[in-house]
Parts: sequence; C-alpha cells; structure tokens
Amino acid sequence: MSLASSAVRVGNSDCSADWSTAERHGELLGPQETNTDVAPRTTRLAKFHVPEIVFGPGSLAELGHCTQRLGSRRPFLVTDPGLIEAGWTDEAVGHLRRVGLRPVVWSGLTPNPKDHEVQAAFERYAESGCDVIVGVGGGSVIDAAKGVAILSGNGGHILDYAGVDQVVQPIPPTVMVPSTSGTGADVSQFAIVTDTTQHIKISIVSRTLVPDISVIDPRLLTTMPEWLNAATGLDALTHAIEAFVSRAHNPLTDNHALYAVKLITGNLIRTQVQPKNVAARLAMAQAALEAGMAFTNAILGATHAMSHQVGGLLDAPHGVVNGVLLPHVIRFNAEAWPERFVALGAAAGLPTAGVPPREVAGQLADLVRALADDLGVPKSLASLGVAGGDVPVLARTTLKDACMATNPRDVGLRDVEQLFREAL
Ligand SMILES: [Fe+2]
Repeated sequence: MSLASSAVRVGNSDCSADWSTAERHGELLGPQETNTDVAPRTTRLAKFHVPEIVFGPGSLAELGHCTQRLGSRRPFLVTDPGLIEAGWTDEAVGHLRRVGLRPVVWSGLTPNPKDHEVQAAFERYAESGCDVIVGVGGGSVIDAAKGVAILSGNGGHILDYAGVDQVVQPIPPTVMVPSTSGTGADVSQFAIVTDTTQHIKISIVSRTLVPDISVIDPRLLTTMPEWLNAATGLDALTHAIEAFVSRAHNPLTDNHALYAVKLITGNLIRTQVQPKNVAARLAMAQAALEAGMAFTNAILGATHAMSHQVGGLLDAPHGVVNGVLLPHVIRFNAEAWPERFVALGAAAGLPTAGVPPREVAGQLADLVRALADDLGVPKSLASLGVAGGDVPVLARTTLKDACMATNPRDVGLRDVEQLFREAL
C-alpha cells in the first residue's frame, strides 16, 4: 500500500550534497532521533499538515467568524444528542447566528458512525443547500462530518473511499470543534466509518480530510462522561506512541508525540479525579492536539489496525479497545526496535539511564496497562465480548487496514492472531 502523498515520500534527494551522509551523522534529525533511530534509512522528505488552530477556554465564541471566513452562508452543523443535552450545540448555533449565518443542525448519529448514518446526513446536507460543514462533538461526530464532505465533493458511497488517497476531488470547507480530549479527528486526515454489512470499521486516509479550522475549547471537555474521558485519553496516548514508532515518523512529528505522552501520563488521571480541574483539562486538550498533529502526519500502527476490527465487530469504545491492545503491541514491536521506546519511556517519566531498551519498552507496556487499570478499562478483549472464534476473521481484516502499513515491525497473519489471543 502506498502512503506516498498521505504520509511521506521515502527516497533520495536529487542534489549534489551528500545529504544521506549528513543524516547518518544526525545533522537533519531531532535530538532524540540521533540516540534512538538505529534503523538504516535513506534521506526522507518530511511533510507536516495541520489545520488552522484556535485554542483556549472560550474559543467556541470564534466559531461564527471562523465559519464565515470560509465563505459560509448556510453551515451544516453535525452534532449528536449528548452535545445537544450538554448545551454546546445551542451555544455553537448562537455564535453562528450572531454573525448572520443560518445553520442547519443534524444530529442523527450513534457512537462509531455507521455508513447509513453518513449517507442520511449527506442527503440532508444536499437537500438543505448548505455550504461549509461544521462538526461539534467527539470523534464520531467529526468523522461523520468528514463523511458528508467526502460525498459532497466526490459522490458515490462512503465505503468506496476506504484506504489511502481514494478521495481525489476537493471537498467543502470544514470547521471542527472537538468535545473530547483524544481522537484528534479535528486535526487529522483520517475518517473512520463502520461498514454495517461486514461489521468492520474502514479507515479513510486522505490529505483533503484535514479540516480547515479546528476550534479547541477545553470547556467542552468538562461535560464528557467519565468513561468517555478515560477512553479518549487512552486513544490519544495510543496515537502518540504509535506515531512515534511509526515507519513514517519524522523530526517534525516526533516532539509532538513525546510531549503528548508527557501530558497524558501526567494529567489524564487528574481529569478523572477532579473533572473541573482547569489546568488538567487544558493539559489534556493540548495533549490530544499534540498527539493528533503527530499521528495525522506519521500515521499509526498495529494497535489501531486491530482496534478498528474489534470496534466494527462489537461497536465497542475505540479508546477502550486501544487500551487493552496497546501493551501487547508495544511488547511485540519492541522485539524488533527496542531503542525507539527509550524516549517514549522517558516522556512517560520512567527511569531510562542505564536501563536496557527492551526493559524500558516492557516497563512502558506495564505503565500503559496500569493506567488503563486506574481508569477502569477491562484487562481483556474477552471481557469486551470478543470470542476465540472471532480471531481468524479479525486477524484477516486487520492486515487490510490502512494503519498497518506504517507499523514499525512487519506483521504477518500468525503474528496478528497471536496478538489477539494474547489480548483475549
Ligand atoms: Fe484512535
């Protein structure tokens, strides 16, 4: 599978200087890279693509101006019943109206957006004559809003766009307002949609899906249910760790990934214990953003490839499944590239001086599991409803997931089956 335009091109630069030698000497690399990147590589072209970001408490008030600046007269606001109940939809609609816009609200969504829900939203969008698409909600809302944008610009059925770079036509402008601290969908080039016929989640990966503007107001995080805060926080941690060890990581993404790990391991539990703690909420809002900026450019790995299949089968919370799988995948990947996990361990607060890299990786896996325990996440896939008989199908579909291409270690069918069995 090619990640050429959606991740990075890998190849030699066409220039007279010996850049490959420079990179070997660390002159083109970030500080941690020189110590941990022992895999032989050619000089790589790094890309970094993120939306315009408006960040901070009260930033939702900027939504009207942001949407207007993109040329909107009649925005299509995708949200869900939970956001309506919490009052955020009304506040968002008020800000849009205040600048003279006439929004149409659509909220017919369930968690893990389904193919037919995206189709229904698009039909409403098309018949209402809307222009700019606004998403106010968690990852499911934002992914559905991206789905509407894909169909508007490209036609067809949402499942036609599974994989990398299948969305080729321009899409309408989008503004996203995340209500969780985890998915990174408001800055990412990903949209995840459930195929309700095959009971799998499909990953749509395309540069065109990076929103135009992300409005991140940490106030919205305070109305999340506790389980969703835990799940999305673990999702963000998984984004950061998978992005840092990804085959497509680069010096522009690495520091975002490491800082996200530091913020999440230092603040996620605080947001559970003290939901109104402003400093902790701010830290988690930034952590989700940092992890999102890292993974949208470095892509992900085996945890997400596996998690998407479980999520499609069981309609289970994405971050919870990640929390179960991630420790197993860390140990598996560290067999091939333990050095890469040292900087991650240090970012998580583990002692690393004089500790063998494989041991650091093992301790990081233990730390992730301990965090999941503290957050009340089940220890096994079986407790989420996965049966041993599901493993062969889950493993087969995992290998087709777009996220598998950037896992740092080659993964075969037997490896995935083994990983699923270990996590059962
Ligand atoms: Fe995720």
